[in-house]
Amino acid sequence: MIKYDIGFLGGGQLARMSIQAAQRMGFRCLSLDPGLDTPASQVGDSIVGSLVDSDKIAELAKQCLRVTLENEFIPANAIRQAFTDSAIDEGSLIPGIDCLATIQDKLIQRQALLKAGVPSPKAISLLDRKTAIAQIGFPMVIKSRFGGYDGKGTRYAKTESELEEHRSLWTGAGWLAEQFVPFRRELAVMVFIDAHSRGAFPTMETIQTKHVCDLVFPGGVDASEVAIAAVEAVGGKGLFGVELFELESGEFLINEIAPRPHNTGHYSLDWGGVSQFEQHVRLTMGLPLGSPEGRETCMANLLGQEGASNLAHARARALEDPGVHVHWYGKAEAKLGRKMGHLNVVGGENLVERARNARANFYEGWKGAD
Ligand SMILES: Nc1ncnc2c1ncn2[C@@H]1O[C@H](COP(=O)(O)OP(=O)(O)O)[C@@H](O)[C@H]1O
Ligand SMILES: [Mg+2]
Repeated sequence: MIKYDIGFLGGGQLARMSIQAAQRMGFRCLSLDPGLDTPASQVGDSIVGSLVDSDKIAELAKQCLRVTLENEFIPANAIRQAFTDSAIDEGSLIPGIDCLATIQDKLIQRQALLKAGVPSPKAISLLDRKTAIAQIGFPMVIKSRFGGYDGKGTRYAKTESELEEHRSLWTGAGWLAEQFVPFRRELAVMVFIDAHSRGAFPTMETIQTKHVCDLVFPGGVDASEVAIAAVEAVGGKGLFGVELFELESGEFLINEIAPRPHNTGHYSLDWGGVSQFEQHVRLTMGLPLGSPEGRETCMANLLGQEGASNLAHARARALEDPGVHVHWYGKAEAKLGRKMGHLNVVGGENLVERARNARANFYEGWKGAD
């Protein structure tokens, strides 16, 4: 019955790059995703099916020694149901079902952080608007408790009337209100925790454009202590991407935690040390961990552009700088603004400027004629 080592819930780029790292070590992998032609299905065996269907989750889990995930939106209840129905030990899910349940509701995640004394913006449900206004005040950030990514579930309200303008979003019980943080910069840290140890990759600065991560480069500070404390506060085991705010005072506040490899860890594919994907595989399979040390690297996301189809030309243009590495996810459709791949620049000087240049060249080539 068990034919695979690792089952991935989700078949996007994070599953694809994890599978590639796993295959290098000889592991057999299976992914589950509703899409027919996914980044993961191009590199390994896959099942087509819904990620909220416990029967489909069970179909995958029954064939795999360990199960992990590439997004936190898969309902913890569906996974629990699948495991119970098939008599699968809940311990075979990395990052843990309880941890997933805590993280996938942004309000419960915040409460877990605050309860553990981990610095994080104050947040409460928007169900009772008056209490929310009294406790949080303006400016206020409102967020969907479930399913937000790339800022799709995040809005700002500077006044009560702006909050009213968003009423159609938050009238159900599914939104929270939290303090607006006047941060100096946004940072991110990949954290890993297993039965024997805990640690972190370097603290990176992240630049978001229209709420989508744009550039990632070394932050020159160390926020690992608070990032590890955040993952401990949600009872996590495995690999986690932790997003933080840095205040003018130099203080760190936790924004959110992702229980999986993360866009801000992609630099590690080319930095020479263990990559976040290999670390994820090692954590999932209970192997000794790699040491998170490597060369300074800058990552730039490649987003879907209008009228761009010449991938061969794009690649060649980006690689004009010999320090550049191109990663492409093989997504079926290049929707505008969608994460299609990324570039890493490693070695030499001016990493951020070179990443920006390489990306501009990539886009120019992508839009160019043959
Ligand atoms: N409390 C806050 N104060 C100020 N800006 C915020 C706050 N929360 C989120 N943001 C901004 O919105 C972006 C998206 O919010 P986030 O909670 O990370 O949602 P997503 O799941 O879409 O990444 C953050 O990267 C940050 O730039
Ligand atoms: Mg975020």
